[in-house]
Amino acid sequence: MQVILAEFAGACYGVQRALDMVDSLLEAGTSVTTLGPLIHNPQVVRKLESQGVRVAEDVDEVDSGTVVIRSHGVTPQVKERICEQGLAMADATCPHVARAQAAAAELAQEGCRVLVVGEAGHPEVEGLLAYAKACGAAADVVLNPKDIPADLYEPVGVVVQTTQTKDNLEDILNALEARGISATVKDTICSATRKRQKTAAEVARQVDAMVVLGGKNSSNTTRLSEICSQSCPRTFHVESAAELSRLDLDDCKVIGLTAGASTPEDQIADVRSILEVL
Ligand code: F3S
Repeated sequence: MQVILAEFAGACYGVQRALDMVDSLLEAGTSVTTLGPLIHNPQVVRKLESQGVRVAEDVDEVDSGTVVIRSHGVTPQVKERICEQGLAMADATCPHVARAQAAAAELAQEGCRVLVVGEAGHPEVEGLLAYAKACGAAADVVLNPKDIPADLYEPVGVVVQTTQTKDNLEDILNALEARGISATVKDTICSATRKRQKTAAEVARQVDAMVVLGGKNSSNTTRLSEICSQSCPRTFHVESAAELSRLDLDDCKVIGLTAGASTPEDQIADVRSILEVL
């Protein structure tokens, strides 16, 4: 079987950095607790648990060792509580997310009413909101133009969840313009998601079947699968190499492969080598 791997696939810079940080802590014999599962990849989370990494949902559940902050980042209040409880902190907030947090705080300090373009309830977005509010701003989450508050007043500052699309940001900005509102815009979109989607779609157009590897709980992997399905109806979202034997790949000569931003390289290599000998 010929396998075509998308040019950009698998763990993005921020996820790989978080994984490397935890590996280094474990190598140094540190007791590690992550605030929430480190990444949206059940296999990786299980492996880390087998290496002694605990997962806590709240700082209160941790009484010793080092607390690892995930690549999504946290609110400033959570960081304060980690320090107040005398715990060591390893901050794996992706530098792109940290840039968005700093932008939210800066807009708030400039006196803006802050709009965070993103998904309400997502940990990164909760963090961005909290950074703006901690600097005294009123802040709202907007995913669609209909979410823009009716009582909006200038000056308005816009900051964006790193995984949002440019199209979505444009929709919001056009809606603001239509209301005669000008905004200071901090475009904090990270290109990793866009590159994965673009190159996955390119591969999906050339193959008989497409395999999308990544956690079923990973929204970016699910989105990759949806995009590939649009041009390749035989698209399969699998979480591990163990699922490959169940796929209907009859008559396929060329298979495309991509992986979500929470999928480490070794998992992609495993799947690729199995597909190649089918
Ligand atoms: Fe960071 Fe972009 Fe990944 S913000 S965590 S490199 S998707």
